[in-house]
Amino acid sequence: MSDLSAQPLDGDPAARVLVAGASGFTGALAAQIVWHHPKLELVAATSRSDAGKRLDRLYPRYRVPVELTELDLDDIPDVEAAIVAYPHGAAAPTDAALRAQGIVVVDLSADFRLRDRDIYERWYGAHGAPDLFGTGVYGLTELYREQLRGAQLCATPGCYPTAANLAIRPLIAAQIADRSRGIVCDAKSGVSGAGRKASLQTSFCEVTANFSAYGLMEHRHVPEILQNSGLGEREFTFTAHLLPIDRGILETIYVRTQRVERPLDLLAIYEEYYADEPLVRLYAPGRVPDLRAVQRTNFCDIGFVFDPESQRAVIVAAEDNLGKGAAGQAVQNMNLVLGLPETQALL
Ligand SMILES: NC(=O)c1ccc[n+]([C@@H]2O[C@H](COP(=O)([O-])OP(=O)(O)OC[C@H]3O[C@@H](n4cnc5c(N)ncnc54)[C@H](OP(=O)(O)O)[C@@H]3O)[C@@H](O)[C@H]2O)c1
Repeated sequence: MSDLSAQPLDGDPAARVLVAGASGFTGALAAQIVWHHPKLELVAATSRSDAGKRLDRLYPRYRVPVELTELDLDDIPDVEAAIVAYPHGAAAPTDAALRAQGIVVVDLSADFRLRDRDIYERWYGAHGAPDLFGTGVYGLTELYREQLRGAQLCATPGCYPTAANLAIRPLIAAQIADRSRGIVCDAKSGVSGAGRKASLQTSFCEVTANFSAYGLMEHRHVPEILQNSGLGEREFTFTAHLLPIDRGILETIYVRTQRVERPLDLLAIYEEYYADEPLVRLYAPGRVPDLRAVQRTNFCDIGFVFDPESQRAVIVAAEDNLGKGAAGQAVQNMNLVLGLPETQALL
């Protein structure tokens, strides 16, 4: 770690933290939040190909003046907690090595999100730490807060499932979605959702001034949405789209309801579910969020329009895919796990 400048800490840190994969999009933002967090000390930020470079040269906006180092699993830095921002497959063995040292792990990959091993292997291939499979607590904070307190391994949700489940789950819990008529989620993401690594599909000429659907009927975030919404495969249709912008996810969700008399009754269901939730913002009926409302924040915003006569509801959920959809939620969970105020460094 470079001693280029001191981290702005408020007294003794609550935990010394490692961010693995800090050269990537989610890892860099996680390192930024940890660096500016008054109670977490950023002890190491790691990368293989960018080891030796300064993080504030890769991401000047984040102002994290530390040198990236390569993570050696045989010589893990002295930390109490780690955020692992690796691709799926690579994350699990690293998480296992960190856990073996007693380090609390908040993982950003899909490796510990799913509860069914067959479903995991169908979408992601062989698991990299089978002994740990199923031991992670799913880190959709608003739904699993109690299980997350004191968890040792936290599986931060995918970006699409975060917005989808925050929008859908209250309707399922209140039993007012007419599931027999299906729920449709039309999701759009900025290109940073695919990570920093170059690919043809996310190259400038493919993406700019363009708009395209992908992963139709076979997006790997669907099992995660089903697992946590309670919906069955035949009840839910999901289509992802690539927006020609860098950051943000907006999901438009079409639901037929039952027994809802007025728009305010639908709002009351959301308000009850998200009472006192600091990072979920609800809009008055008839108003829906846009991406600008949430980009570079850690909020998920939800709004809807509702037609009582036909019982049609169109719900719009928006978030920053790297914020509430990834690194922001990872730190939200780390705060919870470590007993710190849940929104510290996030508002
Ligand atoms: N992007 C999003 O919006 C988003 C949202 C939610 C969750 N996630 C999940 O978060 C994780 C990270 O995503 P990202 O978008 O930040 O990816 P990314 O930008 O591609 O960054 C990946 C990071 O991991 C390192 N890495 C890549 N392959 C590795 C390997 N085999 N072993 C060790 N390190 C490796 C990379 O650096 P080196 O190759 O130099 O080591 C880099 O630091 C993924 O699992 C992703 O699914 C992403």
